[in-house]
Amino acid sequence: MVKKTAKSSVSRASRLSIAPMMDWTDRHCRYFHRLLSREALLYTEMVTAPALVRGGALHLLDHSPEEHPVALQLGGSDPAELARAARLGAEAGYDEINLNCGCPSDRVQSGTFGAVLMTRPGLVADCVAAMRDAVDVEVTVKCRIGVDDQDPDQVLPDFLARVSAAGCGRFTIHARKAWLRGLSPKENRDIPPLDYDLVMRMKAAFPHLHLSVNGGVAALDQASGFLDAGLDGVMIGRAAYHTPADILAAADPVIFGTGAAADPVQVARAMLPYIDRHIEAGGRLHQVTRHMLGLFAGRPGARAWRRILSEGATRPGAGSDLVEQALARVGAEASAPQGAD
Ligand SMILES: Cc1cc2nc3c(=O)[nH]c(=O)nc-3n(C[C@H](O)[C@H](O)[C@H](O)COP(=O)(O)O)c2cc1C
Repeated sequence: MVKKTAKSSVSRASRLSIAPMMDWTDRHCRYFHRLLSREALLYTEMVTAPALVRGGALHLLDHSPEEHPVALQLGGSDPAELARAARLGAEAGYDEINLNCGCPSDRVQSGTFGAVLMTRPGLVADCVAAMRDAVDVEVTVKCRIGVDDQDPDQVLPDFLARVSAAGCGRFTIHARKAWLRGLSPKENRDIPPLDYDLVMRMKAAFPHLHLSVNGGVAALDQASGFLDAGLDGVMIGRAAYHTPADILAAADPVIFGTGAAADPVQVARAMLPYIDRHIEAGGRLHQVTRHMLGLFAGRPGARAWRRILSEGATRPGAGSDLVEQALARVGAEASAPQGAD
């Protein structure tokens, strides 16, 4: 029997979500993030519907029960195929199925999905309707404000109106355009300017929709500011990955008003049994610890922690004792006079 989180709890969790990030937010990363925040909504990396449905790559849905609330992000543009993929995701236990309408990578463009779908709101509406028919869990959309020479002031409200009419009530808006010609996926996360005001105007125009803003949010204060200004949620990507203690560890008290901030040392210790199980099952240490390198960022011992784990975790036979060794260094530097690291 798979564990499920109630829809209302998932919606509440989306006050703060951690963005889907290919190669980053895999199951090990999500397990780690969950130890830092019990409340935030976690997203998988994008999984393409063709990989699940035509390729039968069901291992892409593997996750731990501890990760809930957790959303599966799908890539695709064929309504029937997305419906089948959504059903596979819901059966695997995901709490939400999200459709990617924001990713600009070449591979994704060639399959007619991701950000290019901003030019096809009718097709996105068909996809959402088919997915909703297939699953009980909520179907949501992550989008941009437009692509290329589209006018976001016209495109975004039209997109939200048409896709919400098909039954999507929750959107995450990466508040910048994707330029599909001429920019790499990485450049597309930084170069097109952010337009947070447009997202605020969308909230005023569609007060019944649950709207989260994404893009460039670097601190919890900034996230709180958006929530105080009336937005329903904030999604954070890179800052949460690189400085998880700053973003995730304090999220429960600051954003959700529950619990105390997590202690990074205790979180590192709580990862040890997980790491042992992973290695016993044939996995490698660095597959888990690569997501933990930023745990002490900005704190005493940060550099030693990162160095010990990045140098040692790929060595044959490396195990959780390396993490204990790195933790001992962090402890020693935290109690040493300031400036030791
Ligand atoms: C390494 C990496 C991989 C990403 N992969 C995805 C993805 O699979 N699906 C998606 O919708 N966005 C993806 N994104 C975009 C993020 O979800 C997010 O929209 C973007 O990083 C902006 O948020 P931030 O400024 O808080 O990082 C990725 C971003 C990064 C850095």
